[in-house]
Amino acid sequence: AKDPVRVLVTGAAGQIGYALVPMIARGVMLGPDQPVILHMLDIPPAAESLNGVKMELVDAAFPLLKGVVATTDVVEACTGVNIAVMVGGFPRKEGMERKDVMSKNVSIYKSQASALEKHAAANCKVLVVANPANTNALILKEFAPSIPEKNISCLTRLDHNRALGQISERLGVQVSEVKNVIIWGNHSSTQYPDVNHATVTTPAGDKSVRELVADDAWLNGEFITTVQQRGAAIIKARKLSSALSAASAACDHIRDWVLGTPQGTWVSMGVYSDGSYNVPAGLIYSFPVTCANGEWTIVQGLPIDEFSRKKLDLTGEELSEEKALAYSCLS
Ligand code: NAI
Repeated sequence: AKDPVRVLVTGAAGQIGYALVPMIARGVMLGPDQPVILHMLDIPPAAESLNGVKMELVDAAFPLLKGVVATTDVVEACTGVNIAVMVGGFPRKEGMERKDVMSKNVSIYKSQASALEKHAAANCKVLVVANPANTNALILKEFAPSIPEKNISCLTRLDHNRALGQISERLGVQVSEVKNVIIWGNHSSTQYPDVNHATVTTPAGDKSVRELVADDAWLNGEFITTVQQRGAAIIKARKLSSALSAASAACDHIRDWVLGTPQGTWVSMGVYSDGSYNVPAGLIYSFPVTCANGEWTIVQGLPIDEFSRKKLDLTGEELSEEKALAYSCLS
């Protein structure tokens, strides 16, 4: 039997946490033959609730779940973890300035970076979900210099999956037949959902999404804004933000990263920019990636038209501004 993998979920008493931990314990994230030990971190006001989640995990009698650590101690939470899913953070509340929210999250991610650096297992893979996800991941990277930058990522897979979902609905095809959409940039409303390279698998071979949809006005307009604004639409409908879809996307992200992407398929991940596609280096920016042997690689050489170029630049500018704001909170 395989040794258990230790998976940390921060903010585990929250909404996404509640949807995510059972998925991990059922093998959705790492596969049906991979035992796991869950480490769950939250803050003291949520300690009782966190303990309730732990009780439910016991009650669910998951065969793959070999242990649960539920704690408000960051060091205990981070010790020995192989995978860290960072869902905990400070939410934006009404009337709060952007800078105040950033400042709270910068200090959380700075201290959790140090704890991971000192106590996580070697080669720990980190996924930041909490917003502002890209910039929280960047702060984590800056303050955990011994964790290789290739091990630090943020979640844009939910946006990617939303784009697949919209195309599938529009064309009346199964979502599993649609592939190779791209989310470029920030996990925010400036993200660019790009279908220029996306295809649908048909009995007659792969067909271009742009040709099948045959409505550029929709693809360049409503499709993009629907994906960009989907988070807000869910909040409006549920009075709570996306949780089951976010948890599922986090599992997809880690699973593909660890176990590899299927041949001919790429996914979107927020990763440290090396300057590919003339995106400023040194930002955590969402790119199309393939994964093999536990490592992601940015898909290279895709042609970028003028319309797309502007959108890649716009979301990059927003990330540069967020980075500057984050640094101004540090000093
Ligand atoms: P939530 O408010 O239900 O849960 C957040 C949890 O984090 C709470 O239990 C809170 O006590 C905990 N927490 C706060 N500070 C912490 C700290 N320093 N250490 C550990 N835990 C801490 O929020 P929800 O709905 O679960 O969302 C979590 C985050 O994920 C939010 O920042 C949200 O904006 C973000 N999000 C990101 C998505 C993405 O695609 N990247 C999609 C949906 C949400």
